[in-house]
Amino acid sequence: MKEWTREERYRTILEASDEEMAVLKEKVDGCPYRQKFHIQPTTGLLNDPNGFAYFNGEYHLFYQWFPLGPVHGIKHWYHVSSKDLVHWNDCGVGIIPSEYFESHGAFSGSGLAENDKLYLFYTGNTRNDKWERHPYQCLAIMDAEGKITKHPKAIVEELPEIYTDNFRDPKVFKENDKYYFVIGAERKEGNLGTIAVYESGDLINWNYKGEIKTSFFGNGFMWECPDYIKIDDKGVLIFSPQGLEANGDKYKNIFQSGYLIGNKIDFENLEFNHGEFRELDRGFDFYAPQTTKAPDGRYILVGWMGLPEIAYPTDENGWAHCLTIPRELSLKGDKLLQKPVRELASLRKNERVMSYALNNEETTIEDFKGNVYELECSFENIAGKRVGLKLRQGIKEETVFYYDLEEKKLVLDRSHSGKDFAVEYGRERKCPYEGKNLKLQIFIDTSSIEVFVNDGEEVFTARIFTAKDSSNISIFAHGKTDVNLKIWDLYLDEK
Ligand code: FRU
Repeated sequence: MKEWTREERYRTILEASDEEMAVLKEKVDGCPYRQKFHIQPTTGLLNDPNGFAYFNGEYHLFYQWFPLGPVHGIKHWYHVSSKDLVHWNDCGVGIIPSEYFESHGAFSGSGLAENDKLYLFYTGNTRNDKWERHPYQCLAIMDAEGKITKHPKAIVEELPEIYTDNFRDPKVFKENDKYYFVIGAERKEGNLGTIAVYESGDLINWNYKGEIKTSFFGNGFMWECPDYIKIDDKGVLIFSPQGLEANGDKYKNIFQSGYLIGNKIDFENLEFNHGEFRELDRGFDFYAPQTTKAPDGRYILVGWMGLPEIAYPTDENGWAHCLTIPRELSLKGDKLLQKPVRELASLRKNERVMSYALNNEETTIEDFKGNVYELECSFENIAGKRVGLKLRQGIKEETVFYYDLEEKKLVLDRSHSGKDFAVEYGRERKCPYEGKNLKLQIFIDTSSIEVFVNDGEEVFTARIFTAKDSSNISIFAHGKTDVNLKIWDLYLDEK
C-alpha cells in the first residue's frame, strides 16, 4: 500500500484538482465492496457521525471525512440529509478546515437546532511547527437554506490545565434553559480518560463546569465522543473509551464504545451514580456513535462501522468505512435496547416466508441468492448443541451466526467471510445467551452484516469482504429447532 506523507495527508479538497478527484472516484466506483443502503463516502475515508440533528423538517447528519484517500488525513465534515432516516440526500462537503482554529482538521462534534438555525459545534484540531497539538472548540451555524457559516473565532480557545491535548468532540444539549456540552478528555495526571462539562447561556460564551463524577473513572486513557441522553427516568452516558483491556468476551476490538445508565445528571453537581459499563455492540466494527432525538421523541443512534488504526480491504480502492443503519433506543431495566429504525421497512421488496423443522441437519434455502437483504429468523424449541445461520455462503466462504447451547453463547464467526483483515483481534465475537427461543433480525449489505438479537437486546456489527457469488443462506441445527424465516430484498429507490 502507498505510504502517505504528512504533506499529502494535510491537503484539503480545495487543493485537489478535478482530475485527481475524477481518477480517485473512478477507482472507488470500481470497488466490488460498495454498499447499497449504507451511508458511505464518495471517495476517501469516513469516520465518526457528527452533527446529527432534526432541523427544518429533516434529519441532518455529517461525518468525519478525508476526501483524498483511505487514511486519517485532514478531517472535513461531509453532509447528508433525510426525511426518513433511510433515503439520504447528498448535500456535499459541510465544513472544510481553513481557519487558524481548525488548521489540521475539523474534528468531531454535534448539532443543536435552536433559533431557526442549526448550531454545529466541533473540535478544531491544530498543530504548531513542532507538531504539538492544540484543540479549539468551534462553532458553525447552518441556516434554513443549508448555508453554513463559521463563527469567526473559536468559542473555547484554551483548555483547563489539568487536561492533555486529547480534548475533543463536544456534544451539545439544552437543559433547564441552559446549554451544556460534554466533551471527551484525558487528565494529565495518570493519563486517564474522563468527560468534561461546559455551560453557556447563549451558545457563544462557554464556561468550564467540571467533570461528570463517575465510578468508571480509572478505565481507559481517553474517552472519545461522549453523548448524554435521558430515557424514561434515567440518564444514559455514551462514550468511546480508549485503552480498555480485552476481558473474556468483552472489549475485543482495538477500542470500545459503550454506555452507563444511572440517575439523570444534575448539571449543577455533576453526580452520576450508575451501573456497569456495557458495550453497545458485540461485533467487530463499531465506534464513536452519536444520537439525536426524533420529532416523535425516539432517540436514534448511528455509529461508525469501522475502527481507528485498522487497515481495511477497500483501502486499495481509495475509500474506507460506512455508517451503521440508524437504531432506535429504548430502556429495558439496566440495558439499552437498540432496534433498527422502523422506517427501514420501506426498503423491503419481495417477501419470502418459510418454515423448517430441523433435526440434526443443514439446509440451504432454495431459490435464494442475495447480497443485499433483510432477514428475520426465529428459532423456537431449541434443543441440542448448536443452531444457526450461514450467510453470504459460497463454495469457500460463509459468515456464521449461531447459538452455542453448551457454551451458552451467541457467536458471530467471520473466519471464512472472505478477505481477511484485523485478524490480530480475532475472528469471532461472542456474548452470553440462554433461551429456548432466539429471534434475529439481520441486515446484509454488499460488505456488512448487522445482527439484532431479540428486538435489540444485543447487536453484532461487522464488515465482511465476501465474493459476489457467495450469496446463499443455510440454516443448521446440531440438535433440533423449529425455524420461521422471512427474507426481503432491500432496494433503495433511485431519487
Ligand atoms: C474518534 C475520533 C474523535 C475525533 C475524530 C477525528 O474516532 O478520534 O475523537 O474527533 O475521530 O477524526
